Amino acid sequence: MKQFTSVHDIGPLDQALQEAFEIKKNPLSQVDLGKHKTLLMIFFNSSLRTRLSTQKAALNLGMDVIVLDINQGAWKLETERGVVMDGDKPEHILEAIPVMGSYCDIIGVRAFAQLKNKEEDYYEVILNQFIQYSGKPVFSMEAATRHPLQSFADLITIEEYKKSAKPKVVLTWAPHPNALPQAVPNSFAEWMNATDWDFVITHPEGYELAPQFVGKAKVEYDIEKAYKGADFIYAKNWSAYQDPHYGKILSKDMNWTVDSRKMALTNNAFFMHCLPVRRNMIVTDNVIESPRSIVIQEAANRTVSAQVVLKRILEKI
Ligand code: CP
Repeated sequence: MKQFTSVHDIGPLDQALQEAFEIKKNPLSQVDLGKHKTLLMIFFNSSLRTRLSTQKAALNLGMDVIVLDINQGAWKLETERGVVMDGDKPEHILEAIPVMGSYCDIIGVRAFAQLKNKEEDYYEVILNQFIQYSGKPVFSMEAATRHPLQSFADLITIEEYKKSAKPKVVLTWAPHPNALPQAVPNSFAEWMNATDWDFVITHPEGYELAPQFVGKAKVEYDIEKAYKGADFIYAKNWSAYQDPHYGKILSKDMNWTVDSRKMALTNNAFFMHCLPVRRNMIVTDNVIESPRSIVIQEAANRTVSAQVVLKRILEKI
């Protein structure tokens, strides 16, 4: 594997899942694979899970790890060509990227959508510059439009907990005080569409995701119909994708909060969320603390998904 930015880079899912479960059983089985190899993790945005789980995965493979928080201690980076750099950004990303590439063997990048210009966000300007100019294999630790390490961990978690061959998986929008990118729901939809599971997306009108991510999913605007018979409820907030409201909050309707009343409509569904989660906005205390909540197991699987990806990249360098 030379890069990992979406489900398209992972190959057959059954093979990826098999590798994931082997790693989960014996995480230190390839502790020499990454010996004398350095992972550089670059964060343009905050992180708890991605930061820790990806480091842990690299350590399990014997790698050395460097972490750089661009906004805490590094020079501010100009990202556009042609700009007269007389402002507060002393370094251009086009020098910074190959310099960073010279210090490592693999690069992980986290760079969220700015939610100001849809075309720029959906072109993945920062991630693509790393791929083009670093000279090193690059993987996404959540970019503007996708969060593939999260979605892979979600897939592993559903595979572990599903009770039937084709579970009903429901992605539900839920309210949040801030405008959030569409990366997690886009990516989750893309990975679910790569399975033969019964996949439903439910959200208020106006929150339609980009068609290339919705794919073959069923979109159900009636939240109660969507919950009915669900085996997994996957909650996430996102801001509007459609013009002219791109990046805007259209609703904070608390009827979309995941609560016990709606969970009672399901097939005793498991509750999932990528975390961090706003309690009593996205999900009630009762639901997230219930035995059907698997958010901690889901987060733990982030190490597994990261380790599969790093292992595959290391095998090719
Ligand atoms: N789910 C996830 O990516 O968590 P962090 O933002 O804490 O890394």
